[in-house]
Amino acid sequence: MWIPDETLERVRSQVNIVDVVSQFVQLKKQGKNLFGYCPFHDERTPSFSVREEKQLFHCFSCGRGGNVFTFLMELEGLSFPEAVLKVAELAAVEIDPAIQAQQQQQKPAADTKQGKLLNLYEWTSEFYHHILLNTTTGEEALNYLLERGLTRETIKQFRLGYSPPQRVALKQYLSGKADYENALLKESGLFSDRSDDELLDRFSNRIIFPIRNRQGQIIAFSGRKFLEGEGEQANIPKYLNSPETALFNKSTVLFNYDSARSSIRREGMVILFEGFMDVISAWQAGVKNGVASMGTSLTEEQIHLLDKVTDSIVIAYDGDTPGMEAAKRATDFLTEKSHFAVEVVLFPEKSDPDDYIKNKGPEAFKELLAHGRETLIGFLMRYHRLSLNLNNESDQLTYIEQILKEMIRVPSAIEREMYFQQLAEEFQLPIDTLKEQFHQYLQAFQRKRTQERKQEFDTQKQEAPVIPQVRKQVRSLNPLEKAERLLLYRLFHHPEILGKLHSQPEPFQFANEDSQLLFMLFESYAAEATEPRVDGFIDYIKERELKEKVTEIELMSVSEEFNDEEVEDCIKRINQASLYHQLEDSKKAMQEASRTGDLDTQRTLMMEIVKLTRQLKNN
Ligand code: GTP
Ligand code: MN
Repeated sequence: MWIPDETLERVRSQVNIVDVVSQFVQLKKQGKNLFGYCPFHDERTPSFSVREEKQLFHCFSCGRGGNVFTFLMELEGLSFPEAVLKVAELAAVEIDPAIQAQQQQQKPAADTKQGKLLNLYEWTSEFYHHILLNTTTGEEALNYLLERGLTRETIKQFRLGYSPPQRVALKQYLSGKADYENALLKESGLFSDRSDDELLDRFSNRIIFPIRNRQGQIIAFSGRKFLEGEGEQANIPKYLNSPETALFNKSTVLFNYDSARSSIRREGMVILFEGFMDVISAWQAGVKNGVASMGTSLTEEQIHLLDKVTDSIVIAYDGDTPGMEAAKRATDFLTEKSHFAVEVVLFPEKSDPDDYIKNKGPEAFKELLAHGRETLIGFLMRYHRLSLNLNNESDQLTYIEQILKEMIRVPSAIEREMYFQQLAEEFQLPIDTLKEQFHQYLQAFQRKRTQERKQEFDTQKQEAPVIPQVRKQVRSLNPLEKAERLLLYRLFHHPEILGKLHSQPEPFQFANEDSQLLFMLFESYAAEATEPRVDGFIDYIKERELKEKVTEIELMSVSEEFNDEEVEDCIKRINQASLYHQLEDSKKAMQEASRTGDLDTQRTLMMEIVKLTRQLKNN
């Protein structure tokens, strides 16, 4: 696929890298830069930065960097034209439909296994969705969903479907689409494990929820039974998920994450529900920043996905005992593994969010989410009370101890003060006693933590080699490197400097190999481009490392003022360095030649050394 220059320029000029990156990374302003957690690796302190005025990103920790296109190419594994179209889509820049169509045709470019599976799931979803909405076979399932309050629009939005009871229908349909071998069809997880020869639909007679990955591609399905019938129907599980496949691992997926991501950013928080139906009903009620795990406890991978877009999470679970237990587990895990600000909403009268919306309406639901949130400790107080009888003195003591221990998780001193007062009042205890007890718990906790960290560290050391995930740039640049980078910076912004470099008495050469490569690449880029610019140059370069180097150079803090003297000075420094390198090489060769007694070579080298020494002096 080829994107015309005109289109490329239009996308480039209309997009702001901040808007695009923000949909994946939560950014905070800090001086000239916006900072956030790098989406390319795990980290505890934010070292990923975006410089708006330059329209570039750079991670100080892993070294990745580039422009808005590079960002999507790296993050989502896209080709350059794909990245351009995706940027256009994210930034709402209109693109010639002909170009888009070209892209669509290319889409199933995959003859890889993963590409084939993606196609299978796309077709399967289309098939189930069609049956639900447009056939008499799907009527009963559709009525069930409509009766539960979903609109057709919502059903379309989530591409819900119905899998017909005839278990051979899916295989027949897919056979009409492509001729994939049976082994692949089996691997897709779409068919029952039990049937050997015949491929029978795994989900038959269920309402289908497509599961999408963070790029929005369908990678699995979950099927819900909808007839509370007798016999067989009564004993089968309510939900059935795809098995693990090459594309699907349920512990890494969050239902609806791909479409919730931008709302999560906008709202500054994510709402974690227990079930798919909760997410869907909430969406219909106008709450679009909801996600759910696949019916399992939250995992570190899922937290990591959320960590990228927000630091605030609201747990919105059922108000019954299992819901309360699940919420407690989630808060424990979240406070241990992340820095999220955690709040909890439990739905009253043992209802789940979906029931609540149906019974009380979308407005009441939104009101509860906005103003009915409990703080973490507020929730934990309620939780611990459940299993205790506070009229009983020993239970009172247990309760106070439990709450003081839970307060270790509260980072804000003001908030802690509030709880101390609350406890002191309720149990008629001196506040200082509570504080003293708290500090004992805190110290014990910290000692334990240090111990654990140490052990972790020791075992890591034993289990070495630890492959460094990041290429830390701790080394500071020497004067030569600085001169090279400065010269490249000037060159990128003032291509006319090329003329100066060409008119040097000796052929000009950078000492550093990458710098020399960039110089040569820029020469050919400048020859082709109508208006050479750093942005375009980054796209011109193929190698990731070189793109990153250009980004680093472009992000150096240099004055925009520039004069000939400065450039001359850089050239001189670089020339000197390369003369010096050549001299060193010649001297080494000379030693070798005198060792072997090669007189001819010795003579040539001698002349060379004299010449270089003279040049170095004159320079
Ligand atoms: P409805 O009952 O239709 O309102 O769905 P729900 O989403 O409210 O389900 P529920 O609250 O019972 O369960 C929450 C989540 O747990 C579901 O969305 C599923 O992901 C998961 N889940 C529930 N039942 C089963 C089951 O039988 N098997 C599996 N694998 N997962 C289940
Ligand atoms: Mn429900």
